Amino acid sequence: MNADALIHKDYFTDQSLLLDPYEYFRQMYAKGPVYPMGGGDVLLVTGFEEAVEVLRNNRDFSSAISTSGAGDPLPFTPEGADISAQLDVFSEQLGMLNLLVSYDGMQHANLRAIAGNLFTPTRLKATHTFMHDFADQLVREAVSRGRCEIVNEIATPFVTLVVAEILGVPPEDRDKFRAVIDAAPPAGNMNKEDANEGAAPQLSPLEYMGLFFFEYLNDRREHPRDDVLTHLAQATYPDGELPDLLEMVKLSGFLFGAGQDTSAKLLSNAMRRIAEDPALQQQLREDPALIPPMLEEVLRLEGSTKATFRIARRDTKIGGMDIRAGMRLTVALAAANRDPRRWENPEEFRLNRPRIKEHLAFGRGVHTCAGAPLARLEVAAILQHFLQHTTHISLCAEKHGPPGNRHLEYEPSFIIRGLANLHLVLES
Ligand code: HEM
Repeated sequence: MNADALIHKDYFTDQSLLLDPYEYFRQMYAKGPVYPMGGGDVLLVTGFEEAVEVLRNNRDFSSAISTSGAGDPLPFTPEGADISAQLDVFSEQLGMLNLLVSYDGMQHANLRAIAGNLFTPTRLKATHTFMHDFADQLVREAVSRGRCEIVNEIATPFVTLVVAEILGVPPEDRDKFRAVIDAAPPAGNMNKEDANEGAAPQLSPLEYMGLFFFEYLNDRREHPRDDVLTHLAQATYPDGELPDLLEMVKLSGFLFGAGQDTSAKLLSNAMRRIAEDPALQQQLREDPALIPPMLEEVLRLEGSTKATFRIARRDTKIGGMDIRAGMRLTVALAAANRDPRRWENPEEFRLNRPRIKEHLAFGRGVHTCAGAPLARLEVAAILQHFLQHTTHISLCAEKHGPPGNRHLEYEPSFIIRGLANLHLVLES
């Protein structure tokens, strides 16, 4: 397709961009590392330095739209060089989900002081045995069948159970949570009509899970245990104040949901890479210590979050370019991770790239992913078991077509980069 036609596509609704969003990002980058989307007033940030500049500048850029994106018109007309007051008035309409990831300033700093402290090395180490036993069980069952669909049969149940176990969600409620999350549209849903589907108005997954988390947290305040929910129930803000229980309920639900799709999709993105590259697969099988650096390169090249979003609170600049208060930015993490000014031969997969951990797959600045240590561990754990129990993993040609002519389907999301399904053939 010619470049002009491509860059005029609507990133927020055009599902033809799902298969290869990178080509769209490349063509936009060729116009400039910060460039208006579709000629409108939403800017696409594709440059690495520029993306870092935006993500670090949480004074001038608000996260109010980080989950809702910039596809719809603003609910107000920005007035003046500082729209802080308007952002306060319209925060609910802007944020869609009024959560940690969309908070700014002290409201964010206070809650992050609690959330940033949950997945400590000690707590993660304590789940090591559980995580590996469960991974081993899932993988053995799949290998005994000789095939699996990894996204829905393995990745999603695995990450759900791991986070449920760490948080302390009782086993009898886990399937209920999984069911409401599965039934809901993905983050950054491109199918607008899904939002109105269904007869009676339904609770969102966060509202539904909130009812349960409210009970758990109340219980933990009375009867502490050794789990993350107890930590959340007892945590205080840096000034010593006990947070409102509702804030902790929302945070618990968000933690439960936030890492599900992203981690599951990272696992399948990594698995696709491994299944399509037998030499890499063998190298990892022989030396599992290479799995973590391999995952970092997958995060760079095919991280499961394509973009996040900001709105300028004040008149400011990025990369020397003037930004007016009220302008919205799509910070394309996936594009910045392939910026040729930052990465040598960015399209090439290289194990052990220098300074690979500087990629932006988990964001940067104060909102950097709070679950990154858990995501890295859980995805590496299950990959390790897959490699250990197989001699060869390949894509199922019946489902995805032959090598060189694969058919893959991606989630209809302007945030998540992830396969809807991935069928594998497993040889033991
Ligand atoms: C591969 C998996 C994951 C990816 C690619 C990912 C990506 C991200 C990104 C890019 C952000 C920053 C958003 C922004 O700046 O607007 C973020 C924030 C966050 N993530 Fe993750 N995430 C993953 C897994 C997880 C897991 C497993 C959890 C928790 C169980 C989690 C919890 C969070 C939280 C709480 C935030 C908000 C942090 C804040 O606003 O201070 N994530 N994630």
